[in-house]
Amino acid sequence: MEKDTNTPFSLSCCSSLRAGMVGMGMIFDETYAPFFEAAEHGVYDPRSGVFRVNLIGAATRTGGRTAAYAKARQREDFGNYIGDSAIEDLIGAGIDFLCVASPDDQHFDAARRALEAGKHVIIEKPSVLDLAKLDELVALARKNNVLAKVVYHKLLDPDHKKLRTLVHDDVLSHVNNGYCSLLEPKSISGGQFAAWIRGRNPGTYVAVHYIKLIDFTFGGRLKSVQCSGQRGLVGAKDGDTWDSTQLRLVYEYESGREAAFDIHTSWVTPDNFPGYVEQEVQFRFDNGVWNGHSRKRGVELTVEGRTPMELKTTINNHYNGSFLEPWGQRSRRGYGIEVIERFAREVAYVEHGGSAETREDRLREISQLSYNDLSSDRQVVAAVQAMEIILERHAAGQPNGTVEVNGKHGGLALFLPGVAEPEVLYTDAV
Ligand SMILES: NC(=O)c1ccc[n+]([C@@H]2O[C@H](COP(=O)([O-])OP(=O)(O)OC[C@H]3O[C@@H](n4cnc5c(N)ncnc54)[C@H](O)[C@@H]3O)[C@@H](O)[C@H]2O)c1
Repeated sequence: MEKDTNTPFSLSCCSSLRAGMVGMGMIFDETYAPFFEAAEHGVYDPRSGVFRVNLIGAATRTGGRTAAYAKARQREDFGNYIGDSAIEDLIGAGIDFLCVASPDDQHFDAARRALEAGKHVIIEKPSVLDLAKLDELVALARKNNVLAKVVYHKLLDPDHKKLRTLVHDDVLSHVNNGYCSLLEPKSISGGQFAAWIRGRNPGTYVAVHYIKLIDFTFGGRLKSVQCSGQRGLVGAKDGDTWDSTQLRLVYEYESGREAAFDIHTSWVTPDNFPGYVEQEVQFRFDNGVWNGHSRKRGVELTVEGRTPMELKTTINNHYNGSFLEPWGQRSRRGYGIEVIERFAREVAYVEHGGSAETREDRLREISQLSYNDLSSDRQVVAAVQAMEIILERHAAGQPNGTVEVNGKHGGLALFLPGVAEPEVLYTDAV
């Protein structure tokens, strides 16, 4: 962290943070890029003053998108790192924090290297795919006194904040059950993600948003996980690449009462679907029902020849909309960008929010934020690990498994029909 005297503001100085990016795909374009481009000019936080953020480079698979980005932004200094040493080289170029937005099965290695080097890390959801890896990252972050965080931007969606507020204030009492669905278009599985989709499923990629929403909003103890799925469009009908999945989670609360949640996901919805990404939830409580449709928030747009492909018919203006502000400026804003900015504020607070002697107190305070700290991601990662193994066994001819969580066989135990003894996947309590 260095003091920067070259500020565009009339302030005499402000601090700066240097960041690196791993992966420059869709989520980079939608959320990281608008954040970094705005934060170059400074972010004000009452706890740490004004700080500027400089994205210094990226590690990617081919370097193609990094080169295009550097050119478009006229950044000759922008680091383009590829190959086996890409992440080390990026870290070695001098960063304060690393953003990991590569495919989900690549997150662990990049995050581990950054934490080992004593850099703060933020990882796109799902953080990692099993609890052993989560344990390792959390331990490394603690050992090296840095932050290890995960992005679940749906927690910052104003509708989900309202849901959580009503639950927290006991206006809605005791959730009994619910469903969530998130349907992505075929262009995602067939185009955008085609390079890495083999052997993957849409559940790990997107159901995880709702696993976190349920876990964070309602609390409770995860008891069991089941999952079914369909194949035949993205890959072979008996292969290991999934078109759609149906996940079921059972939770138990302090009262001893249970709730069940079904989360349906797909990445083979027709491309001309009016909303592009279809997102719906319903939660039923002792005294109420919450119905949410993230796509139908009231706007329906038709433009001849442009909707629903180039422009969307039902637009989500809350996630990362582009706007002409009333005062004439162009902007990109929304909860998808806000969540990245929030993390940068947290890093700035740890590094700049007071004296060096009290840094540890600030680090501890920020590490306790359960909405994004890796240490609070245990039940979510447990559900992901369970879903992955149930689908893996299904593809290998053993469908309909159930994973019991914190039962008498350990933290995670897989039960398969016709098999007497469960397979213990994780021994410690989740
Ligand atoms: N928060 C969200 O809603 C949201 C939305 C989309 C994606 N994501 C997450 O972001 C991550 C990336 O998704 P995406 O949509 O941007 O994918 P993408 O396929 O568009 O981009 C992937 C990027 O990772 C790079 N990459 C691939 N392998 C790599 C490696 N070994 N090392 C470094 N870089 C590598 C590719 O070059 C590419 O730039 C995933 O974890 C995904 O779950 C989150």
